[in-house]
Amino acid sequence: MITIKISKFEDLDDKIDINNEKFRDIMYLYSKALKIMENKIDIIRYDYEYLKEHDSINHVMSRIKSPESILKKMQKDNLDITYKNMIANINDIAGIRIICPLKSNIYTVINYIKEFNDIEIIKEKDYIKHPKKSGYTSYHMIVKIPVYINEEISNVKLEIQIRSLAMDFWASLEHKIKYKPNGELNENVSKELVKCAKTINRLDDKMVRLFKNKGA
Ligand code: GTP
Ligand code: MG
Repeated sequence: MITIKISKFEDLDDKIDINNEKFRDIMYLYSKALKIMENKIDIIRYDYEYLKEHDSINHVMSRIKSPESILKKMQKDNLDITYKNMIANINDIAGIRIICPLKSNIYTVINYIKEFNDIEIIKEKDYIKHPKKSGYTSYHMIVKIPVYINEEISNVKLEIQIRSLAMDFWASLEHKIKYKPNGELNENVSKELVKCAKTINRLDDKMVRLFKNKGA
């Protein structure tokens, strides 16, 4: 029998201790939320399989933020290191990334996600229509999903990033270039990366057109 009562943790004003059972219990709740979300995505894919339709999802990646990264982010954001602040302010403790073959598949997947009536959308950011200054494109959602433990419901936040294969190619490499140890990103490299993002976006659009015209 699981005896944790995580929903109560939202009231906790005490300081985080990452070696404490309380912290592990909270992390368990986030990982359970991630599993539930992965399951929902599997169900979307199951529909495609049944309908024998082209799958709008290429692959899915998920991760739980490490305790060290959580604390680092809270310090950076000048937050008191309490459980309450962590739950209220750190939106990406549980993160899931959905990679679609084509740019046009992204909005299909978003609509599918919105059809689950137990998913509450907290925040949406369309960096495809409005790319970041870096050139980054993706669709971001912060959602809450109910997780049941001991007949109690906790609504747990997840960050969902949805992007095409081409967008993922850019983001993965840009991340590697940007965060390489001791590496200072000079202005020229930043500009080139924005240019690459634009080129990739044109290819993405071209692939969508080719796919629409296939067999024509
Ligand atoms: P805010 O409301 O401003 O916090 O926006 P957001 O949460 O939608 O985006 P944020 O800048 O916090 O980034 C969230 C995640 O998106 C990051 O952890 C990265 O995974 C990804 N991301 C955002 N910007 C970039 C970027 O310029 N390059 C890459 N490679 N990834 C990015
Ligand atoms: Mg953010």
